[in-house]
Amino acid sequence: MASLGVNIDHIANVRQARRTVEPDPVSYALLAELGGADGITVHLREDRRHIQDRDVELLRQLVRSRLNLEMAASAEMEAIALRIKPDMVTLVPEHRQEVTTEGGLDVISQLADLREMVTRLQAAGIGVSLFVDADAAQLEASAASGARWVELHTGSYAEADWTDQPQELARLTEAGFIARSLGLRVNAGHGLTYQNVEPVAAIEGMEELNIGHTIVARALAVGLEQAVRQMKALIQNPRRDPLFGQRQP
Ligand code: PXP
Repeated sequence: MASLGVNIDHIANVRQARRTVEPDPVSYALLAELGGADGITVHLREDRRHIQDRDVELLRQLVRSRLNLEMAASAEMEAIALRIKPDMVTLVPEHRQEVTTEGGLDVISQLADLREMVTRLQAAGIGVSLFVDADAAQLEASAASGARWVELHTGSYAEADWTDQPQELARLTEAGFIARSLGLRVNAGHGLTYQNVEPVAAIEGMEELNIGHTIVARALAVGLEQAVRQMKALIQNPRRDPLFGQRQP
């Protein structure tokens, strides 16, 4: 059964829209835990557009589940991770102009550097996950980097038209199989919603889903604790084919 990492970047987005002190993502992380979050995920971006250094420091002290720090594979971020010591680092590609993380990490082209960074982070007791597309060559490079986890990028699945979704789901399922056969542990995330999450949660061996935007959006209506509970219920007891079945003519 997959667990749920709740990404609270969007709480910080609201705060940063006014550059004020509320809403405080740290308080909301604790509410997410009350709702059953198995982990809290934040992306400390180079441009600090949402999560701030102070958030990560406080989260490290207060989060009782697991803290997953998403970050670029840069020297600045590595130094922060080694100081704060999150439970897990997820390495992601980062581009200044993007609205959100766009593609998976190109592990193949930076394998030597990544291998060194993964070694240093793991030696400090931090688990390392690489955010990658559902691509066999990238998964093989991920295994060669020494990282223990990959997070499969679910963006193409989430954005696919319903006629293409089964094919995208099959790609994720196959990627999960390949990753596990390479000895990697498998997480997934990006663009998952209350409507599309169940088939991904049902993929064999799926360990954790990292979900943010849809949960924060629902929290506006029902509160964060309740929004997390509703997502967790879907993940823990997923129907395999909830969308495709209903929409077939
Ligand atoms: N996983 C990774 C690596 C991400 O970059 C993001 C977005 O910050 C998420 C998961 C969560 O995506 P969403 O907000 O679309 O649920």
